[in-house]
Formats: sequence, C-alpha cells, structure tokens
Amino acid sequence: MLTLALSKGRILEDTAGLLAQCGIRLDSSAVDSRQLILPTDDPGLRLLIVRASDVPTYVQHGAADLGIAGRDVMLEHGGEGVFQPVDLGIACCRLAVATRQGFDYPRAAVPGKRLRVATKYVNTTRRHFARKGVHVDIIKLYGSMELAPLVGLADAIVDVVSTGNTLRANGLVEVESIMPISARLIVNQAALKTQQRTLAPLVAALERAARATS
Ligand code: ADP
Ligand code: PRP
Ligand code: MG
Repeated sequence: MLTLALSKGRILEDTAGLLAQCGIRLDSSAVDSRQLILPTDDPGLRLLIVRASDVPTYVQHGAADLGIAGRDVMLEHGGEGVFQPVDLGIACCRLAVATRQGFDYPRAAVPGKRLRVATKYVNTTRRHFARKGVHVDIIKLYGSMELAPLVGLADAIVDVVSTGNTLRANGLVEVESIMPISARLIVNQAALKTQQRTLAPLVAALERAARATS
C-alpha cells in the first residue's frame, strides 16, 4: 500500500486530474467528507489530507511515502529526507514582494536601510534579502498577508501571486518577483529503496501525466 500526502484546495483538484490520467480515480464522496485518509479506486494507493505546509513533514518521516507540495513550501521546509523527482507543473504562481501603491521600494530596499516584511515564508524571505544585503525585520504571519501593509504592520509582504487579483483588490503592487513556483512530487528517501517496485511505476506515470498536461 502506498500513501500519498497532499493538501485540499488547488493541489487536490489538480492532482485528481493527474491521477485520473494515470487511471486512478478518487472516491468523490470521501473527498466531500471530513475524512483525512481517502481511498482511491486503486487498492494499492491511499491519500492523506494534510495542511499544505505539513506535506514535507509527513513524507520526511515516512508517514507518507510520497506527497505533492509547492516549491514555496519545500524551500521553507528545507527538503531534508525527501527527493523531489518531478516538477508537476500544477498550482503555478510566483513568489513576489509587494507593497502599497506609492511606497518607494527601490529606495527602501537598499543595503543599510531596514525593511519590515510580513510573510509566512520566513526562511525564503530572509535568504532573499540577505542576498541583496538588505536588513529585514520579519513579521511571521499565517495568512492574509496583504493586510499587513494596509494597517502599518509592515512595509512589504512576500507571498505567492498568481492573477494579481488579491494584490489589486487591496491596493498593493508587485515590486519584485523572487521566483516561479509550481508543485513538486516529493518522495521519502528510504521508501524509494524499500518500496521501489510499487513507487517507481507511480512516479513514472505521474511524470508522464504531468508532461502530457504541460
Ligand atoms: P494554504 O492553505 O497553505 O494557503 P493553498 O492550497 O492555498 O494552501 O496552496 C497550496 C500551494 O499552492 C502553495 O504552497 C503554492 O505552491 C500554491 N499556490 C498558493 N496560492 C496559489 C495561487 N493563488 N495560484 C496558484 N497556486 C497557488
Ligand atoms: C493565495 C495567496 C494570495 C493569492 C494570490 O491565497 O496567499 O493571497 O492566492 O492569488 P492571486 O494573485 O490569483 O490573487 P489563497 O487563495 O490560497 O488564500 P488563503 O491561502 O489565504 O486561503
Ligand atoms: Mg493559500
């Protein structure tokens, strides 16, 4: 039995499409239920529904053999104990810096000045600004980052942006793009050896499905 960890929302929706291309259908009544372990119509595969940022933790510790997690999440986690063999090309967005309209970011984000940045991506944000030589005071948030500059909690935010609608709706502008983001298939390093016979075909099938979709 293989266990695949993923999060509800866009990752589950896009993954259901990829799994369907591999001939694996989810039990739709189970998806709508509050169950956290979902069967698929393949008796050899079950899904765990976890928080997006917890996916690498389940896979790292072998509680799941494999998982699907955004590149943003993997950078924060660090990727210890997991392989990232396939870029699935789903849940695409970018990690970016945004500020209020009219905030002079080029003047504020320079070496020697301090910038207050609100984000849930603490590690990635620290690395990004360290590379630029900009001192940052990081304010850790768990969501609704767009609010922070509006109420004076921070000068800037680092968050994922896709259509830009959320920024626009809150009078924010993207001032710097940090990196493109998409979801990765991740695999427990030990399982890759011990479960090779069952894992390898699923990884290969998902890779084919991802390539066919892109
Ligand atoms: P969370 O509850 O952590 O916000 P989401 O389901 O919103 O979980 O996001 C899961 C993953 O999908 C993120 O780690 C990121 O890689 C990607 N993602 C987040 N927001 C967007 C978006 N607006 N458009 C496309 N992909 C996104
Ligand atoms: C994500 C992200 C942004 C928004 C960006 O939020 O945190 O707020 O999407 O997408 P856009 O550029 O297309 O507007 P999400 O929809 O995941 O909400 P939540 O994580 O706060 O539940
Ligand atoms: Mg989200």
